[in-house]
Amino acid sequence: MNDNLHQLRCFGCGARIRGDQAGPDFRCVNCGDLFEVEYPGWSQKGGTDRPNGGALKWLWRERKASSELLDHSGVWRFRELLPILDSFGNAVTLREGHTPLYHLPRSAKTLGLDQLYAKHQGMNPTGSFKDTGMTAALSVAKERGYEWVACASTGNTSAAMAAYAARAGMRSLVLIPDGKIAWGKLSQAMDYGALTCQLKTDFDGCLQVLTEIVKQSPIYLLNSVNPYRLEGQKTPAFEIAESFDWHVPDHVIVPGGNLGNSSALGKGFRELKALGMISRLPKISVIQAEGANPLARSFRENGGEALEAMAANTRATAIRIGNPASWRKASQVIQESGGWCLDVTEAEIAVAKAELGREGIGCEPASAVTLAGLKRLVADGRVTASDTVVLVLTGHTLKDADYTIDFHRGTLLTEAEAAPVKAEMEALRRDAVQVEATPAAVLKALKEVQGRWL
Ligand code: F0G
Repeated sequence: MNDNLHQLRCFGCGARIRGDQAGPDFRCVNCGDLFEVEYPGWSQKGGTDRPNGGALKWLWRERKASSELLDHSGVWRFRELLPILDSFGNAVTLREGHTPLYHLPRSAKTLGLDQLYAKHQGMNPTGSFKDTGMTAALSVAKERGYEWVACASTGNTSAAMAAYAARAGMRSLVLIPDGKIAWGKLSQAMDYGALTCQLKTDFDGCLQVLTEIVKQSPIYLLNSVNPYRLEGQKTPAFEIAESFDWHVPDHVIVPGGNLGNSSALGKGFRELKALGMISRLPKISVIQAEGANPLARSFRENGGEALEAMAANTRATAIRIGNPASWRKASQVIQESGGWCLDVTEAEIAVAKAELGREGIGCEPASAVTLAGLKRLVADGRVTASDTVVLVLTGHTLKDADYTIDFHRGTLLTEAEAAPVKAEMEALRRDAVQVEATPAAVLKALKEVQGRWL
């Protein structure tokens, strides 16, 4: 382990330990809070361990043309800012990262914005942003000699973990809430060879059970309480900054579930600023589903200072989480960057997801909260016409095809839920139609929609 370069600092009490001293649940023994990876050498201005920002920008660009395997990873291309391994030869990679930044012209026009983009993390190897964190933390597990890795999951973490474990020749254990994950994700865990246990509880219950298991058995925990996960998940911040030639956008909008992703992106931007590579942080806003909104409530009630766990419920199953582990870290990121935390309804999520589909991009329901949240932020003047906005789309549209089909068939929402967005929904719905197998019948179907469709 690179102890000379990194250490773990408790987010709550500030206690510092070596990387290999963390307990199996990654909680501080003094105060129970989570750890953050810290690089002490970076703070000594002029010190030999402090990365040179200008040189890194040049090196990272050069690596885009490199034939080295590690340089093909959009995580390890930035390895100078995640020196968490003894040897980068231990990195387990599936060529994650390098995700596209798409312009969203239709939504931009509707919202009166010029510069609206989607950073599509669903274009990672297993179809979600989890791959960027998994390559980092699973590589640490491999380097430290673990045979088994495990996670509790709403589906995407388990898909990513199972894939990376398979690549490394390791075994993986998945705990998922019974009946509350999308089929696409469950099928991935099976395909990649995990032991998948469906527990009669929710995500929060699964994580609780797993926390006990790792204390009793030498299994490496790969949920985002593991600080190395966040080291990988901070790299999309580097990609975003690089895409804008190191002038960061005004707003970055992220979905909030267990709140690891928003914490990680905030850490990434914060580190770039500390190293003088960008001049300011973007405003980072976190959007939750109305039925799984513990942080949004916390911001409404006490400015993000205290959080009350809740029983969560939303059709965006990826973010069906009522007791988010990283809420303190996320809260600090929102406060420090000047962003907001909001919640949006099931109907707003459904419409936003269909609109992103109409951009030719698509995403899973949890990702669509970002566009739904942006609409609110524009409506109340917190985002203005000249602002540059990046939505972080976290999962691929094929992850939850059932949701999409239910939307287009008109069976997704209850009548009461759909009532406020009826017109938008009708304009977006594209149910498949039964047509006779003749050219004339197909042409008739085509004629019927001409003039009716926008
Ligand atoms: N979007 C998607 C598609 C997700 O899968 C998740 C979380 C989130 C957003 C929220 O990110 O937890 O870092 O705030 N999925 C986890 C899982 C919990 O198990 O796959 P977060």
